[in-house]
Order: sequence, then C-alpha cells, then structure tokens
Amino acid sequence: MEHPAAGIPLCLLLLLMTSTSSCFFSEASARINHGGGRQVLAPAAGQNSFPPVKLQIMDQYVVVGNGIVEVNLTNPGGSMTGIQYNGIDNLLEVVKSETDRGYWDVVWKGDGIIKKKGALDRLECKNLTVITEEEEQVELSFTRKWSSELQGKPVPLDIDKRFVMRRGSSGFYTYAIYEHSQQHPAFQLANTRLVLKPRKDKFHYMAISDKKQRPMPLPEDRVPPRGQPLAYPEAVLLVDPIEPQFKGEVDDKYEYSMESRDIKVHGWMGKDPSSSVGFWQITPSSEFRSAGPLKQFLSSHDGPTCLAVFHSTHYTGADLMVPFEAGEAWKKVYGPVFVYFNSLESEASSSSGTGMSLWDDAKNQLMVQAKQWPYRFLGSRDYPLPDQRGGITGRLSVHDPEISTRNLPPTGGWVGLAAPGDPGSWQLESKGYQFWTEVEEDGSFSISNVIAGQYNLYGWVPGFIGDYKYDAVINITPGRSIEVGDLVFEPPRNASTLWEIGVPDRTAGEFFIPDANPNYINKLYIHQEKYRQYGLWERYAELYPEADLVYNVRTDDYRKDWFFAQVTRKKGDNGTYEGTTWQVKYSLDRTYQNVNYTLRIALATANGAELQVRVNDPSSAVPLFTTGSIGKDNTIARHGIHGVYRLFSVVVPGSLLVDGSNTVFLTQAINTGPFYGLMYDYIRLEGPLSPNPPRN
Ligand SMILES: *[C@@H]1O[C@H](CO)[C@@H](O)[C@H](O)[C@H]1NC(C)=O
Ligand SMILES: *[C@@H]1O[C@H](CO)[C@@H](O)[C@H](O)[C@H]1NC(C)=O
Ligand SMILES: *[C@@H]1O[C@H](CO)[C@@H](O)[C@H](O)[C@H]1NC(C)=O
Ligand SMILES: *[C@@H]1O[C@H](CO)[C@@H](O)[C@H](O)[C@H]1NC(C)=O
Ligand SMILES: *[C@@H]1O[C@H](CO)[C@@H](O)[C@H](O)[C@H]1NC(C)=O
Repeated sequence: MEHPAAGIPLCLLLLLMTSTSSCFFSEASARINHGGGRQVLAPAAGQNSFPPVKLQIMDQYVVVGNGIVEVNLTNPGGSMTGIQYNGIDNLLEVVKSETDRGYWDVVWKGDGIIKKKGALDRLECKNLTVITEEEEQVELSFTRKWSSELQGKPVPLDIDKRFVMRRGSSGFYTYAIYEHSQQHPAFQLANTRLVLKPRKDKFHYMAISDKKQRPMPLPEDRVPPRGQPLAYPEAVLLVDPIEPQFKGEVDDKYEYSMESRDIKVHGWMGKDPSSSVGFWQITPSSEFRSAGPLKQFLSSHDGPTCLAVFHSTHYTGADLMVPFEAGEAWKKVYGPVFVYFNSLESEASSSSGTGMSLWDDAKNQLMVQAKQWPYRFLGSRDYPLPDQRGGITGRLSVHDPEISTRNLPPTGGWVGLAAPGDPGSWQLESKGYQFWTEVEEDGSFSISNVIAGQYNLYGWVPGFIGDYKYDAVINITPGRSIEVGDLVFEPPRNASTLWEIGVPDRTAGEFFIPDANPNYINKLYIHQEKYRQYGLWERYAELYPEADLVYNVRTDDYRKDWFFAQVTRKKGDNGTYEGTTWQVKYSLDRTYQNVNYTLRIALATANGAELQVRVNDPSSAVPLFTTGSIGKDNTIARHGIHGVYRLFSVVVPGSLLVDGSNTVFLTQAINTGPFYGLMYDYIRLEGPLSPNPPRN
C-alpha cells in the first residue's frame, strides 16, 4: 500500500478516496486552525446546497447546527443537553437533568476512592476551545486538566472531548483524548463510555442487528411494583408494565450485549421500524475498543439508552481493570463515534427514497462512514490521518498433522495486530489499539489503516484449539504495507484424537442450551441465541436434580447431552449450593502404562470456578490436575456464551488408565452461589504419545 498522494492534486485525491464527497470545497473551507488543532482541510459531506454549519457560543451553552441537526452542549462542561432534529425540539431525554442526557464517563479506582465498584466521573470539562469554525465544519474541544489539589475527585487524566459537525451531515461526530502523564497519580480504569439517552416518549423500538430488533418496555416498567428485580438486580421481571404486551417478560441490558466485532450500528426508532425518526450510533472501526474482536460490550438497552462502551471489565473481570502507574505516559483516542439521525420524510438521510426502513438506511450510512474511514476531517493531532497509518498482508494456513498432511485453509479464522505479548494476550490488552480482520477463504488477509507502532500478529481459527502468534514484532510505519508471506499456525497437538466433545470455536454455543423457564422469557430469544435467556443456570438442577451429568463419548451427542454450563446445584431452599462433578465415560481397547496421554480442556469462560480433573478415581484426595481458582467473567449471570478463552493441557499418565471402560471426572468445586461455574469450549483426549508404545 504505497501512499498514493505523490503528484495528485489534493482536490482530485479526495475525490478518488471518498466516493461520497464532491470536490467543491476549495473556496469554502480554506485552511482551518483556530484553537491549536492541526490544519485540516474540510471537504463537504454532501452537496453545497446545504446551509453552512453555524456556531453560537453563550454563557452556559454552546449550540452548533447545520440546518439538519442542532446540538446544544453545556459550556464549558461539554454535556449534550439538546439535539434538535426533524422538527423535534429535543431527541434527548428532556425529563432528565441537562447533564444526564448525553455525556462521556469513566469509572475508576484509586487513592481516596472507597466505593467497591469505583467512582463514576461524568468528565465535566472546564474549558471550551473552538478548533474549527467554518461553513463546512465546526469542531469543539472541551478540556479539563487534572491537578493535584483535585486528588480523589475526578479521574487522574487530562481530558479533551471533541464534537464535530459537518455541512450536509445528518448527525455529528464525537471522540475524546485521554492522557496520563508525569504529574498524574496511579489509578485503575474500570470502564469508559459515551452515553446517549434518547427520550422515552419518542423512542420505543430498538435495533441492534438485522435479527435483533424489538419494541422495548418503558423505564418505569422496571421499577417496583411494575417490575420485580430478579437474582441479578439488572434483570427485572415485568409484572405490570404500562404496555401489557411486555407482561411476563424479563428485561436485562446484558441480554443485548454484543461482541466488539459486531458493534457497528445500533439505536432506536419510534413506535416501530416504519416510524418517522431514527437515533443511531455508527462506528466503522473498533480500533479503539479494548480486548479485541470477541470482547463483549453493552450496546443499546432499555432506558432508552444507546451506549458506545470503549472499555469495560464485562465478561472478563478484574483482569481488565487497566492499571496505571504514577507518572506513566499514556494517551489514547476513544472514538470517533458518528451519532446519526434519520427520518422517512427527510431527503438528507434517505437518499434512496421510499421503501427503505430507518434501520436499512442506518446500515447504509454505516457503509458511507466506512468508506470515509479513517476520517480526514478530525482536528486532533492525536487522531492519526490515513497517511499516518500503514498495513499488513499475508496468508495464514493451519497445519495439524493428525488431520491432514497438507496445510489447511483457516476457514473463519481471524488475525489481528495488538500490543506485543504472549499468544492470546490481546484478550486482556486495553492500553493500545487493535486491528483485526477475518481471513479470506484461502487464508489471505490484509489489514489496512493501522496506526503506526509496534505490534504482534495474533490469530485463532475455529475448528482448532489454541492461539496463533507470529514470532517477530511487527513495526507498522506510515504509508507502507508489510507483506509477511505464508504463515502457518500449528495448533497444540501431541498425538491423535481418542475422543473429543464439542467444537473448538471459543464458545459453548454448540452444546445443549435448555429452553428458558416460561416465567422468565425474553421473546426476542425464543428462536435465536437461546443462551441469552434469563435464569438458565437454574435449569441444570431441574435436569439433574440428584446425580450430575454423565456423558458417554461413544453414544452421546454433545448437542443434546452436554449441558452448556457446568454450574452449581441449588440445595433445597436455604440458599446453599453445591459443586458438581461431571463424568466422561469412554472405552480404550489397549492402554499403555508407561506413556503419557494428553487431555486438552478449552474453556469458553469461567467465573470464580475451580476445575479439578480426576481419572478413574473420583475419591482421590489430590486431583490429577486443578486450574486453581479462575475467572471473574460473570458470563453465567449475564447470559453470555463465552468470556475469556483458556486452554489447559493435562498430562494423563498411562498408568491411570485401564483396558476397557475409563472415566474422567470433571469437578467444578466452588459452591459459593448460583453464578459460579464454567463453560467448556471443547475437550479432547490425545495419545498415547509415541506412535507404537510398548504394551505393559
Ligand atoms: C440549550 O439548552 C438549554 C438547557 O436545556 C436551554 O436553556 C437553551 O435554551 C438551549 N439553547 C438553544 C439555542 O437551544
Ligand atoms: C482554555 O484553553 C485556552 C486555549 O487552549 C487556554 O489559553 C486557556 O488557558 C484555557 N483555560 C483554562 C482555564 O484552562
Ligand atoms: C504436549 O502438549 C503440551 C501443551 O501443548 C506441551 O507443553 C508438551 O510439551 C507436549 N508434550 C510432548 C511430549 O510433546
Ligand atoms: C440446606 O439444605 C440442604 C438440603 O435441604 C441441606 O443438605 C443443608 O445441610 C442445608 N444447609 C444449611 C446451612 O442449612
Ligand atoms: C509423562 O509426563 C510426566 C510429567 O509431565 C513426565 O515427568 C514423564 O517423563 C512423562 N513420561 C513419558 C513416558 O513421557
């Protein structure tokens, strides 16, 4: 990827690079440089028939509008108090206080913070700077510097929140730069997000994907006596909702969490998909989100709420509390997020005319934004422009000699660049940026628009256990694409498979997932993603009231006979639980005493669990293997099907095995409560190690 700029006039270049922008800005935009941002040439977003962008700065508010959308922010706090669109004076929740409608926030822990979950900081700023004020574009910067007399109150970071509105654009962009430097004390970052609260009297229908869309209950429905909090208080049974259609359903924001790779467009509409106004957020890239493409984040949920979560510990736990040392130098750009509005009448948004739903138009707008990515019009020097980015190309294949002597295409595999570390370390990495892509059918991949810097190349391939990592550190430089050629992933393997359970795909999705208790249904998940229903952990004890699961590898089917989660069993009604021991029964014709077998156990998630492995002797005081206490993923309570991926390889001495019938005992020993346990991804027994071991 040679940078194409040489010798081409900028105007033509922009035309070549952004299929949607027309080339008329030469006079209107000129050079823009008000408040210390870098110089940016701002091409128009649409046709020049649109009115110019206007900025009004008042004592306590600042209002920026382009004739399509008008955003009203507190000055100098930088909270969104109003969004005017399509004749509606405010799309944000007018019944909430003006700093509780649209804002950035951080949850953090550090000196002086006693709250267990950390302190919430809404990132109210102190200073407004106009970065750009032109007919084509206005960019505002709300900043706040931390100083030592503020110790223990705001998060110890310097904050720069940006808002950008462009001519002819049916929305606005927001991004933020967080900086930790020499004078800042140590702290831990738990969570940071952009929160948008559309008003509840206008927005009732939520869409987070093609198949996941539904009318939503009102926030009042969650409050007793209309709503009854369930075992995890964020889950509420709607016993007397204002709209009777929701009666008997469970509402829980975690039922709408999504993998980072799927979070691109989501939001709200009026009564239904054909109603007049849509409220969306669009993120063409996830480079700034923590922990890679499989990390799960909240999206939109009841409130109405529309979140862009950049970092959280959800589905991972304390391992994703980001530690900062005193004086540590760190800077990161979160976002940009495009906040987009559409309406069926408005020509500005629905260019293809009638027949298109607001959701379809929002998806279309995602494509428009993706074509422009990385944006050229953002004013902060900390957001790398296209020519400050590079790329990498190559081709991955998989070599597993027990499956094929040839290298196989890594079907459905993903590769990505993240901070240098161990294989799989990207799952817990959050200070840097990550760049991922799914490989092509033949294994080839190309990752472009990578911010210059040092990375490792990581990957995983469904159907194979383990993590891929390319040995060399990859140094991405501006304007260049690195060709790494043919790479081969050799997944862990000591010997051929004697038996296996499940599919190595990092989730427990292929196992038996029970129907939800009819008293705790979310109608959206009756025919899809059944694991998102509330209370499935209780179903284990209903299916196995006395004795635990026993699985025979020859006759049983993991899709029907392997419960998707190894959870605790409730004992009576006194609030006590017990750990469980599952048995895997298999038969070996000949066993070899003086060799080792290998038991591979891939876990899709764990929460306060301890997995102990015993072979043929369930009562041995010391297990053959224990994971020790692992995991704070909290996936069971939050209706996930995976959290952090963990792979264990257990050496099984042949002396423990017998000719004929053998049993592996898998004990989840922790019994503290209902949400402790684990989910398997895949289990297999390999061996014996030497191809023709001597018979004992
Ligand atoms: C901006 O919002 C404030 C508070 O909600 C309101 O008082 C003010 O009139 C608004 N200004 C404009 C121009 O909409
Ligand atoms: C606000 O920003 C301006 C421009 O960057 C700067 O000159 C001024 O000192 C800042 N004021 C405060 C209170 O930080
Ligand atoms: C078996 O696999 C494990 C983990 O992949 C590895 O550490 C071990 O060295 C292997 N054993 C042999 C004898 O190859
Ligand atoms: C709770 O109930 C179970 C089963 O009814 C019983 O075995 C257990 O001893 C009880 N535990 C306590 C602490 O009461
Ligand atoms: C089996 O594994 C154990 C423990 O890892 C090791 O000490 C032993 O040498 C192995 N035996 C053989 C025959 O490879």
